[in-house]
Amino acid sequence: MIEIRPQEGIVGEIKVPGDKSISHRAALLGSLSREGIEVENFSPGEDCTSTLSCLRTMGCEVNRDAVSGKVSVKAPDGLKEPSDVLDAGNSGTTARLLLGLISGIPNIFAVITGDESLKRRPMGRVAKPLVAMGAKIDGREFGEKLPLAVRGRKLTGGVHTLQVASAQVKTAILFAGLRAQGATTVIEPILTRDHTEIMLEHLGIPIFRKGLEVTVYPASTLKGASWTIPGDFSAAAFWIVAAAITGESELHIKKVNVNPTRTGLLRVLQRMGLDYSIEDETLSGGERMATIAVKSSSLKGTKVMPEEIPSMIDELPVLAVAATQAEGTTEIRGAGELRVKESDRIHAMTEGLKRMGAQIEELKDGWIIRGKTKLSGTRLKSFGDHRIAMALAVAGLVAEDRVILEGESCVHISYPSFFEDLKALTTKSQPKERVSS
Ligand code: S3P
Repeated sequence: MIEIRPQEGIVGEIKVPGDKSISHRAALLGSLSREGIEVENFSPGEDCTSTLSCLRTMGCEVNRDAVSGKVSVKAPDGLKEPSDVLDAGNSGTTARLLLGLISGIPNIFAVITGDESLKRRPMGRVAKPLVAMGAKIDGREFGEKLPLAVRGRKLTGGVHTLQVASAQVKTAILFAGLRAQGATTVIEPILTRDHTEIMLEHLGIPIFRKGLEVTVYPASTLKGASWTIPGDFSAAAFWIVAAAITGESELHIKKVNVNPTRTGLLRVLQRMGLDYSIEDETLSGGERMATIAVKSSSLKGTKVMPEEIPSMIDELPVLAVAATQAEGTTEIRGAGELRVKESDRIHAMTEGLKRMGAQIEELKDGWIIRGKTKLSGTRLKSFGDHRIAMALAVAGLVAEDRVILEGESCVHISYPSFFEDLKALTTKSQPKERVSS
């Protein structure tokens, strides 16, 4: 467990870990390249380590310099049948994207599994379209849950209209499409993160995009490439909210990915009154990268619409924290997907924030939160979910007394140095006087 003390403000400069979604994709696409993909600033989180270890089990050459964050992945002789079960750990992205990748490699047999949380999460959304392309996939609950067994086959492209807005499903189908016969088109209900499309374009793979539609063509091997992965906006989100809701903050978050399919939180917070600016924007590997500067802000409630959700899906727990500190009512709807993440995030945040005294109403697909509320310090649980742990830690910064957070080690999934960074950012400002005990 860890103690979080209330703070007057968040001051200084920070660099967050490399983007998790981009890191997974770079490693997985490296496995289709003889020359290899080499990236700087690869995510240090356990989720991306799971992807690298699955790729090693499939015969890829993986090199990782833990200090510099440089990672290279190549498969000079192509991907091999794994000699053991592929363990995706806690990582939905690893399991779902690997399934897409393996489905199109004829004759390879693999079993993919994960931890207790991942074994509860839906896989049919990926397995079904891949089966429609010709893949052979079976598993628990008729292919709905891990462990799943997949035998790669010659696939046929086709047009796939998705029911759920999911970048993981889109990417799994596009990866399979790289090895299929003919064109593979995915049509999304709402645009989701487009890192796969950007990376394929950057690697010179023919890909056609129009609105909610994306088409790939067969490309059995990819050429080599190297670039630097920008910082993870989903990690930056915790500091954006922390700086906004604490009293005397001035924070610069450097070299963050500001791809608009990821930065929905900024648009919503801007509507709520966030005092911020985007500076020094450049491109890296086709992705936008910039400094986000944030100051303490007086927030007011807003209504978040279902079509805004995919661009801020992982940031909703920390938006809920911001909403408790905004004047008026914040309504978040259309976020039912949160119930099938690493934990049921709608329930986990309702429970945590209610214990702190927030006025939060749990909806089937979101929350209604009334502010501004003085939160109280108490004992909280992470539910074993990295984003819940970090969101509740941010709530602790504006509590009247210290918060004791249990199960905080799960932050290793995406942001191993979160609590060290919190310490570094808050030692510059004084802890608030204890108001009650
Ligand atoms: C991700 C997509 C999102 C997101 C997850 C990472 C990705 O999941 O929540 O953390 O890298 O494609 P869904 O595709 O299930 O919405």
